[in-house]
Formats: sequence, C-alpha cells, structure tokens
Amino acid sequence: MKAKIVLLPGDGIGPEIVAQAQRVLEAVASRFGHEFEFSSHLIGGIAIDTCGDPLPDETVAACKESSAILLGAVGGPKWDDPSAKTRPEAGLLKIRKELGLFANLRPIRLFDQLIDASPLKREIIEGTDILFFRELTGGIYFGESGREGSGDTESAYQKMIYSVPEVQRIVRLAAKAARNRENRLTSVDKANVLEPSRLWRSVAAKVMADEFPDVEYDVVLVDSMAMHLINRPKDFDVVVTGNMFGDILTDEASMLPGSLGMLPSASLGDGGPGLYEPIHGSAPDIAGKGIANPLATILASAMLLRHSLGLGEEAELIETAVESVLADGHRTADLARGGASIGTEAMGDAVMKHLAN
Ligand code: IPM
Ligand code: MG
Repeated sequence: MKAKIVLLPGDGIGPEIVAQAQRVLEAVASRFGHEFEFSSHLIGGIAIDTCGDPLPDETVAACKESSAILLGAVGGPKWDDPSAKTRPEAGLLKIRKELGLFANLRPIRLFDQLIDASPLKREIIEGTDILFFRELTGGIYFGESGREGSGDTESAYQKMIYSVPEVQRIVRLAAKAARNRENRLTSVDKANVLEPSRLWRSVAAKVMADEFPDVEYDVVLVDSMAMHLINRPKDFDVVVTGNMFGDILTDEASMLPGSLGMLPSASLGDGGPGLYEPIHGSAPDIAGKGIANPLATILASAMLLRHSLGLGEEAELIETAVESVLADGHRTADLARGGASIGTEAMGDAVMKHLAN
C-alpha cells in the first residue's frame, strides 16, 4: 500500500515524540512492504513564530491531500498571553473544522504492567476499558463569541449550539462502535440545565430507539459522570458526549491508567484523512530534554494504520510491541514512579526491537 502521511510535530515535546512514531511507521512499512511518504508541516506556536499563523494555508492543503495526519502537540507558555492576536490552540481547532473531524475517539485502556501507577486502587480500575466519542467540531467551542461593554462592566459570551444532524452522526458512530465491543452506550449531557443538552438527549434517544434497539443505552449527567469515572469506571463501555464535556471528562479519564503518556486519540470525519495524536499536551517543562514518553504517539500511529489505512494487523503489531516493552520493564520518567527510567529515543529503540522481523 502507498500512503501519504502528514506529520505535524508542533510545539514542546511534539517533535521528539513524533520522530519516534515516524521510526515505528517506517519499520512497519518496510516489514509489510508498504510505501509511506512523509512530509512535515507547521502548526501551533512554531507556525505563529514562523509565519504569524497557527495554521498556515500550506499546512491545510498538505493535510487535505494526505491519507492521514499524525500530530504531536501544540501550545506553551511562550504563546499564552491572553491579549495575543492568535494562539497555538486556534490552529488545532481550525484543522479539526477544516477537515470536518467531528468524531474524536479517545480509548481509555489499561496496561496491566502499569496498573499500580494509577492514582486509584487496583480493585476500582482493574477491568476498565472505555471508548469515548467526543463531538469535536460543534458546541460551545465553535459558538459565536464576543465581548460587550468595557472596564468594570465588561461581559463576555460564547454560544453553545448543537443541531440535529450534528448529534445524529456522532451518536451513530458511537453506537456502531459499541456493537463491536460490549454493546453498551452511555450518552453524557447536562439536560437538567442546558437547552442544547435537551436537544442532544432527545435526538440521541431517537437514534438509539430507531436504529440501535439492540444496543444497551443509558444517559448520565456530566457532573455525575465526573464522579462515576473515579468511583466505578469499569461500568462504562462506549461514552458519547459533546465537545466541552468530552474535553474535560477525557482528561479526567486519562488519569485512570496511571499516565497521560500512554493514551492515543483519533479524530475522524466523513471520509477524508483522519488526524491522530496523543491525548497529552506539549509538556513545555520537559521539552528538549529527551525524556518525554513517546508511547501515546506511537499508539496513535497504530490507530492511524487501523482507521485511516485499514491496516489492522500492522496496528496490532505496534500495540503488542508497546505491551512487550512495558513487560520488559522499560519505563520513561512519567511511568517510573521514581525508579529507573529511560529517555524518549531509548523507548523508541525498545519498541523498534519488537517490530523487527
Ligand atoms: C484537547 C485539547 C484541546 C481542546 C486544546 C489544546 C484546544 O485540550 O484536544 O483535548 O480543548 O480540544
Ligand atoms: Mg483537552
């Protein structure tokens, strides 16, 4: 198979971890006889510094022509000034919108070898395996915003809007995914307070009743969900929710397996290239030190192979390699809990060893 893969390393640790994932993809390509053509483009803070725009047109064009996109991370204190004209995060939001990536899949899965790194007790998290579907191109993130008045009486607003088709398409995807798992779907909203959540709830209920009567379905309010996630995480299979609730809940859930450094995510649209990235951010405090954990990005590259290129066997090979590396006892600093640790590149080397034929 031939595929064009766009790399968007971005800021902070982004370039270091994407480099390791690229090595892994190259190893898989050579083992299975695929041809991957890589090109690297600017996004985020580095794009602001280079051309004054967190998402240059050239990057969008390259992404649109690609089979799939692998992103590192964007942002950092350097670009945090609230009065700045633009921010690195704007680049990420814009690429999601430009490519119509409305479905953000965030699998929360445990690695047996790391269970003791979780802040929760083993008996609470053991058996947890949740797949979040976060709506990614609508809701409050993209609602009209503005400011009114000035000085002591100034106010600011941002609208939360969801339409019927926006809810239908994400619920459908999540319900389909549930059928291939434990056949259970939970929709999370704030229908006791928010109008868009009431629309969300009724549309979701209808989709489920009409099209997925076989899928076990329930509804949870977002504040309760925050609680359930640390109290009984293993009760959930697939979870579908709106953009902002999904942002918050997936950061919370990402702590269950012990380190943010292990979790990949996929953003998918209706056909077209998907975008794959680690859930963690740019970690500016450790950028350039060569100690970042590349495994989330390496696992994101496995998702890329599976979802955008249909290469399931290759994806599994990478996932198994990551498990083996952990079983061998290799840990980057975030996983080591004060014990011995290895750096980013050494972790890449360890994965590569398990990919060689
Ligand atoms: C995420 C991030 C982004 C978001 C930021 C960086 C814009 O937190 O992907 O979860 O809020 O969507
Ligand atoms: Mg987030």
